[in-house]
Amino acid sequence: MLSIVFVLFWCTVVSASHFHRVEPGGTWEQAREFCKKHYVDLAVLGTEQQYLGLLRTSDIIPTQAGVVWLGLKRDDQHGVWKWVSNENLSYDRWYRTPRQGLCGCLDAGVTEDRRLLDLNCGKQLSSVCEGPVGPQKASLESVGCDHVTLTWNVSASMRDVDHAYSVTMCGATCDTFLYDYTTGINRTSITINLSNLTSSSSYLMNITATVTRPDAATGKSTTLQSSTMTMSMTTATSGMPPGMHTWLILAVFAFLALLALAFIFYWLMALRHHARIPAYRRVCEPAPWLPALHCWFLWKLSGGWSGLGLQRFIELLD
Ligand SMILES: *[C@@H]1O[C@H](CO)[C@@H](O)[C@H](O)[C@H]1NC(C)=O
Ligand SMILES: *[C@@H]1O[C@H](CO)[C@@H](O)[C@H](O)[C@H]1NC(C)=O
Ligand SMILES: *[C@@H]1O[C@H](CO)[C@@H](O)[C@H](O)[C@H]1NC(C)=O
Ligand SMILES: *[C@@H]1O[C@H](CO)[C@@H](O)[C@H](O)[C@H]1NC(C)=O
Ligand SMILES: *[C@@H]1O[C@H](CO)[C@@H](O)[C@H](O)[C@H]1NC(C)=O
Ligand SMILES: *[C@@H]1O[C@H](CO)[C@@H](O)[C@H](O)[C@H]1NC(C)=O
Repeated sequence: MLSIVFVLFWCTVVSASHFHRVEPGGTWEQAREFCKKHYVDLAVLGTEQQYLGLLRTSDIIPTQAGVVWLGLKRDDQHGVWKWVSNENLSYDRWYRTPRQGLCGCLDAGVTEDRRLLDLNCGKQLSSVCEGPVGPQKASLESVGCDHVTLTWNVSASMRDVDHAYSVTMCGATCDTFLYDYTTGINRTSITINLSNLTSSSSYLMNITATVTRPDAATGKSTTLQSSTMTMSMTTATSGMPPGMHTWLILAVFAFLALLALAFIFYWLMALRHHARIPAYRRVCEPAPWLPALHCWFLWKLSGGWSGLGLQRFIELLD
């Protein structure tokens, strides 16, 4: 039954912004279902700026368009008006004080800026759908010399929608990365790591949200894109962190000191064994600082008793 209704929604789709007008009409619920199928949802005008912005978009709200559904609703006549994104209506642009209607629409025929109107949800109206909403701003959590960590908030309209973020990053070359947002994980923000960057280099980043939907007119799968958020950043300068130099110098000194101690110990051992056995004395006499192992090698090289192993040699020394 509903699919027949959808076929009736042949569409005039204007996509100057992420809002799309859909004609001809249906009830509020039908309009919402259509928007969710082909876009993201009915239009959410969370701020007064967005409300006024939509009024100025004359290709979506022409004055002769009559009345169009928005994603605005209340549960009962005393209820709070809420957008479908679950945000409260935060400004007063009612044409008149709402009466019986539980669904919100925009009366394009009114010339003033107070055009919100409450109507019976069963009325047949055209509607305004909205496409994906991208991040409004992103913040750099950390900046390294070869990586950055970036966070942004998932907009309220997108929290119940499977979508993806496309991040294009341009330094010397451009790379594009895709990050999927799957509903059910209940995340309100996205954190990503971008690695393999070059130190002290400037990068330009574009982030857009995308959803894939059957096109309203042709039914072909299409990717809808939000407006682009652009930001730039510079990676940190590579090199040792401050304080590292001191530690390095201390480490080298400690190593040299240990080496000197080891040498002195070796030398003392060699002196102690010196002159114990004649063969040893023969080889090592000219160089009393040679330790036992070196003496043994030299002794072997000079044709020392072939059967005598190192262990036995050292036993003889003692
Ligand atoms: C929306 O309005 C209701 C009733 O005034 C209030 O209880 C609720 O906290 C508001 N929600 C937000 C997110 O401001
Ligand atoms: C995300 O939202 C929180 C509040 O919900 C806010 O404190 C924070 O600044 C926002 N972050 C960005 C990057 O917009
Ligand atoms: C998501 O979190 C909100 C509040 O933090 C909670 O009310 C809601 O039930 C959670 N949804 C899921 C699917 O976990
Ligand atoms: C990003 O990198 C940091 C450390 O480099 C790590 O702790 C964090 O889990 C990473 N986050 C993601 C989303 O990969
Ligand atoms: C970084 O670059 C190396 C080699 O160029 C590659 O093997 C690695 O997969 C890259 N890592 C990421 C996260 O792109
Ligand atoms: C990034 O976005 C800006 C503004 O939308 C656009 O001019 C630019 O070409 C984009 N760059 C890339 C690499 O997508």
